Amino acid sequence: MKSLVVYYSRTNITKKLAETIAQKTGGDIEQLISKVNYNGKIGYARAGKHAISQKIIDIEKTEFNPEDYDVVYVGAPVWAGKCATPAISYLKQNEGKFKNLKFFMTAGSSGFESSLKQMEKFSKKPLKTLTLTTKQVKKDDFNIDSFIE
Ligand SMILES: Cc1cc2nc3c(=O)[nH]c(=O)nc-3n(C[C@H](O)[C@H](O)[C@H](O)COP(=O)(O)O)c2cc1C
Repeated sequence: MKSLVVYYSRTNITKKLAETIAQKTGGDIEQLISKVNYNGKIGYARAGKHAISQKIIDIEKTEFNPEDYDVVYVGAPVWAGKCATPAISYLKQNEGKFKNLKFFMTAGSSGFESSLKQMEKFSKKPLKTLTLTTKQVKKDDFNIDSFIE
């Protein structure tokens, strides 16, 4: 099974999870880079606003073609009860190119269900999903074995 891990991470929490998944699956990994500035306090406010309006934004060109993979893992943080806009934008941009999808998300505490539904709406039903809190990722308090099976 050839796999690709694609993720967006603003503060490196989802990144840590993405790297763990890529390491364990032995697959390729790609970080989504937003062309919209979501850094700092102003960026935080912009991120929340864009997430609520489900804005499709410009992202930097990606390196790997999802069509070349049996499974693509897509990861993102929850923003205002929605999926972070760079990940949604990636899914929409690559509509119809995924053989199989798996979604993983991190959040302070809540908003997983609505975010995952939104990701599915912008692509298709994932084989599996994984949700972890920021704290769990920070403390290495997680096990991804069944998720990557
Ligand atoms: C704009 C914004 C909105 C957020 N909204 C939520 C939320 O609705 N629920 C929640 O539990 N965490 C929320 N968070 C926290 C992030 O989901 C959490 O810190 C996540 O682990 C960050 O991942 P990252 O470091 O990969 O960006 C929000 C963070 C940002 C920047």
